[in-house]
Amino acid sequence: MFCIVVGARPNFMKMAPLVQEARRRGLAHILVHTGQHYDAAMSDVFFRELGMPQPDVHLGVGSGSHAEQTARVMTAFEPACLQHKPRLVMVGGDVNSTLACALVAAKLCIPVAHVEAGLRSFDRTMPEEINRIVTDHISDLLFTSEPDGDQHLLAEGIAAEKIHFVGNCMIDSLRAHQEKALARAPWTSFGLEPGGYGLVTLHRPASVDDPATLEELRQALCEISARLPLIFPVHPRTRQRIQSSGQDWQSIQLVEPLGYLDFLGLMSKARLVLTDSGGIQEETTALGVPCVTLRDNTERPITIEVGTNRLAGTQRDQILRATTEALESDKPGRLPDLWDGHAAQRILDIVAPGS
Ligand code: UD1
Repeated sequence: MFCIVVGARPNFMKMAPLVQEARRRGLAHILVHTGQHYDAAMSDVFFRELGMPQPDVHLGVGSGSHAEQTARVMTAFEPACLQHKPRLVMVGGDVNSTLACALVAAKLCIPVAHVEAGLRSFDRTMPEEINRIVTDHISDLLFTSEPDGDQHLLAEGIAAEKIHFVGNCMIDSLRAHQEKALARAPWTSFGLEPGGYGLVTLHRPASVDDPATLEELRQALCEISARLPLIFPVHPRTRQRIQSSGQDWQSIQLVEPLGYLDFLGLMSKARLVLTDSGGIQEETTALGVPCVTLRDNTERPITIEVGTNRLAGTQRDQILRATTEALESDKPGRLPDLWDGHAAQRILDIVAPGS
């Protein structure tokens, strides 16, 4: 029996294809939700729309500082491992739940598989970078989504036989749900025309926790909204920061966080996406939608090399320049290798050969 872990929003679309494929093959497994994200809009809707079963184990850890959250996941996950005795723990991405569960399993001598291994921003001020590095170094199977990942892991001394380039599970979910997402035509309920709006997301501490940075971003986005209507589903952290800043965001349509299908539908028909997310850089690349990344670095360089992404930083002028370039560019982008909707199958072929 193996264990699949999810905790925060970006985990759900990465791990859902593994849950589905394990069920299809009749492989014994349990699904553990750490509860890092717990709001209906940040968690439940994704389970429903991605067709995931209810978790077998819910750790209910909730929010807290990094240390508190990581510690709570560890304390709650250890007894679950001791009870269920999985032969392998599969974690995904780079959130605190990923690191915490990998650490628990490694110390119980349970092999760990890391889905989306090897990504590096080389920016250790990002909590996710620490999570990625530590998780990779205590994992036994490292499943990479882009060839740079393999290079980083090899350069860090990880044995080649542990590393498997399998493609991108998040794109498995995207392909499986794209048609259903478009059929909902989510732009209509926001008064938008297909191809006639920009979609914004911002949630990283580096973007929203510093009032000066948030103000630069606000000014840039407000200016862009004079050319292109912008819709911005607001993450709970960002909602708190905007409320306490007293800033005027009125020219932008701020809405509650969206479910997977509505967000995917909106993203598919956006003229442009502006984001500080990691996964959205990949999804826009897969969709061929121009993306302006509101960060100074990316751990997903392939989205810039072959995809439709460009890095703009967090300064107003740079963002406006990158936005103009993105709107004027006719670069169609190319799909990265193995972003073909079959990554989960390749992973389970390795984890459970012959299944
Ligand atoms: C986490 C991940 C980040 C990922 C993001 C996606 C880490 C270190 N960060 O960041 O990599 O891109 O998820 O969303 O794991 N909150 C709610 N309801 C919820 C969840 C959070 O209100 O369901 C609020 C709480 O005030 C909480 C804050 O959002 O303190 C931040 O949540 P947290 O899980 O700590 O990190 P994220 O910023 O969501």
